[in-house]
Amino acid sequence: MKQNKLISFRLPVIVCLLTCGLLYCFSYLIENSFEKFSIQQNVTELNSVITSVERELSYYAPDENRDEFFQNLLLILTGHHRLFVYIIDDSGKIVYRTRGPNLSIALTPTVLEQIIKNHRTAIANVDKASYRIAASRLMVENGKQFTTIAAVARDLQLEFIGRLRHGLGILIIIACVLALIGSVMTIYITQKPINRLIKKIERINLKSLNYRIPTTSVPTKYVSLVTAFNNVLNRMQDVFHRQHNFTADIAHEMRTPITNLTTQTQIVLNNARSTEEYREILYSNLEEYEKMSQMISDMLFLAQADNRQLIPNLICIDLHDMIMMMCDYFEPLTDEKHITFCLEGNCSHIQGDKRMLGRAISNILSNAIRYTPEKEKITITLSQVTEKRVKIIISNPGTKIDSKHLPHLFDRFYRIDESRHRNENDNSSGAGIGLAIVKSIIEAHKGSIYAESDDLSTRFVINLPTVN
Ligand SMILES: Nc1ncnc2c1ncn2[C@@H]1O[C@H](COP(=O)(O)OP(=O)(O)OP(=O)(O)O)[C@@H](O)[C@H]1O
Ligand SMILES: [Mg+2]
Repeated sequence: MKQNKLISFRLPVIVCLLTCGLLYCFSYLIENSFEKFSIQQNVTELNSVITSVERELSYYAPDENRDEFFQNLLLILTGHHRLFVYIIDDSGKIVYRTRGPNLSIALTPTVLEQIIKNHRTAIANVDKASYRIAASRLMVENGKQFTTIAAVARDLQLEFIGRLRHGLGILIIIACVLALIGSVMTIYITQKPINRLIKKIERINLKSLNYRIPTTSVPTKYVSLVTAFNNVLNRMQDVFHRQHNFTADIAHEMRTPITNLTTQTQIVLNNARSTEEYREILYSNLEEYEKMSQMISDMLFLAQADNRQLIPNLICIDLHDMIMMMCDYFEPLTDEKHITFCLEGNCSHIQGDKRMLGRAISNILSNAIRYTPEKEKITITLSQVTEKRVKIIISNPGTKIDSKHLPHLFDRFYRIDESRHRNENDNSSGAGIGLAIVKSIIEAHKGSIYAESDDLSTRFVINLPTVN
């Protein structure tokens, strides 16, 4: 929120400064071009007057045809507003002078010589008025020299430039204020739904994790953001839910063997027993201890997997040989149910941890044996998917697993038949972490596993890279 406020403050200031800068450059350009234009106009006007005067000077001798000469000068100057002319002969005497400012105050002989020499104009300030001055020197036929000085007042131009500057200044201020107000309002309008959204998000806590932000209450451009956020909430809720169930399940699984042990001990202590009877009871207790110990080591194994500490000890494995050995290992169990194993196909050797992969496959096989009806067949198929990937399919007949359960089979403590596994006297079902361990092992080998089931069979499909 604080960050938001900072952005909402910064942005209008930036917009305002940019507008101000742009308009300043624009007004500078306008002012500059007008000034250049007016200088050019003055210079052209002064030069044209001086040329006309010099033409008259070379045509008439001002001393002889004085009246005619003055009349022509008047004609030349007609129409030129606030333009003044001075003609000085080589003795320094003023031959002609229009009524106007006394330029000799501002125009020293040196400055005058420079103007003439460099063919340039100069600015002179007389009586608080500013003039642009041009001058030229002409030698006429009789050898006489005349200096013509022309000056034009700049007051109007300066006044116009001043007004222009003032107007542009006001325009810049108004534009900046408008840009500031406009950008503040735009930010406020666009930020409003975001702020509402932030408030809603801030209200979400562990207790209201099932709350979802309605996509209908946000502008269309934020719908995908809200949908993504709601999806994150879905995933988080799922994780929290599983975490919660996980703790409850561990407590339950630990309570069962401890209750068994407590009850058994209480019964034993009620009466005196023979050494043989005590031995038997201790054996039975040992079974419960082993179950607990197994459960704890399974939990530790999964915790290791969660912390990415499950590092396979890689060696070259012949999967065909390894599975054959496992089938032999399970023979007493399969014989009991008259189940047979059928190992089909083959694949190249892979790099893997023999103990871990053995544990994973035996978990799947023990499930398969548990859920296969008597006198049926469990099929294990090995195949080479690509040069670098192999596939193991373990398929057993039995009741179809509903598709809604399939993605959860690998979750910890997940069992399809809740009532059956909660029956503490039912030894046919396990804790429900066998497949979770399988998944951790396969993923530690950079492989993947999924389950599929139909009316004919349930299949566990493992994909493994040959090289890790
Ligand atoms: N081959 C199979 N056929 C039918 N259902 C299966 C099969 N394998 C697993 N399941 C179902 O998946 C659930 C989870 O299996 P998992 O191996 O994780 O747990 P478990 O066998 O119940 O207990 P544990 O393996 O910890 O002793 C089982 O409870 C069962 O409902
Ligand atoms: Mg199992």
